[in-house]
Amino acid sequence: MSCLDYCTAVFGRLRLPSKEDKMRTLKEHQYHRSLDEFLRRCDQEQVMLKWIQNNFSRVLDKIPSSLNGETTRFIGVGCGNGIMDVEMLKKASELHPRLHNIGIDPNGDALGVFKERVQTEPRLDNVNIEWTQETAEKYQNVPPKSFTKEAPRSHFIHMLHMLYHVSSIEGAIQKYYDMLVEGGVMLISLASRSNNQLYNTFKKFETLQSNQTNSSPIERNDKRYSDDVIAVLEKLGFEYSVESVEYRLDVSGCLERKTEGGKLLLDFVCLTNAAQSYETLSEENQRVLIDCLKESCTSTEDGKNHVKLTFDIITVVKSLEGAIKEQVNGIK
Ligand SMILES: C[S@@+](CC[C@H](N)C(=O)[O-])C[C@H]1O[C@@H](n2cnc3c(N)ncnc32)[C@H](O)[C@@H]1O
Repeated sequence: MSCLDYCTAVFGRLRLPSKEDKMRTLKEHQYHRSLDEFLRRCDQEQVMLKWIQNNFSRVLDKIPSSLNGETTRFIGVGCGNGIMDVEMLKKASELHPRLHNIGIDPNGDALGVFKERVQTEPRLDNVNIEWTQETAEKYQNVPPKSFTKEAPRSHFIHMLHMLYHVSSIEGAIQKYYDMLVEGGVMLISLASRSNNQLYNTFKKFETLQSNQTNSSPIERNDKRYSDDVIAVLEKLGFEYSVESVEYRLDVSGCLERKTEGGKLLLDFVCLTNAAQSYETLSEENQRVLIDCLKESCTSTEDGKNHVKLTFDIITVVKSLEGAIKEQVNGIK
């Protein structure tokens, strides 16, 4: 299955957002087509893989080493096709000889791709991997009611580019944090509002649009960004650090509005920021949006036009306080 097929499989089957969901993806079919186009034209996946290659060992260093030959336990929430999980597990297996991983995702096709990927990785022969076809919300309310010998807490939990989809960011972060051992690590990635030329383009567009007297106001879509996660971490008082990673998107074809792909990408810009597609903007607004996008672009030697985007990688380390209290109580 190609990356594109995978994305179509994954995103084509996302649940329809319920009333209380913050992120709305009206016109879902249109949104998924435009999302595919976005993924096809950006290097987000390659950049994340490179980050794992070069930087994941720093996260691994923070993960508490298991004592007395105990198994080190990982959970990948919204793991999708496991492309990131496999890279992280390969690195981790060099340090942790006994490794157990649970991959959670509601999409069965994606989990199937993950399983196939593992089969072709001899370096994962010694890693015990299980898969759970489930949403993060369902899973978070089931196994950790009590942490028994059979369902112990984890040393590392990641949520990469998936918090857009859960019903509550705070609920997910709090519940999965509770599933960590003291000193355990959580890794979260999400799009950033800073250094995000698509976000800036739309902000500029909104300002210009609100100055027009005849134009009907655009309807906002409350997409989530990394600062929404940071606000939650601050509220919960969790210790965290943030690393920003830049990637780029080829917007050639958008500016002339000629190609089908270009139009789909314009839909992505609109649908992730407002609850309407590009076609549904007034002609005047379409022109204003293109002008804003043109101002944000950088042209490269090969005649392509790119915009810069950023996602944040947030590392949360669970406080050791609980463990220290337990030790003190043990001494008493
Ligand atoms: C953008 S993909 C990221 C996949 C993977 N983490 C990666 O970085 O390659 C988002 C994933 O979240 C999954 N997802 C959607 N809703 C979810 C939910 N409620 N709970 C858990 N995962 C969910 C999708 O099926 C998809 O695999």
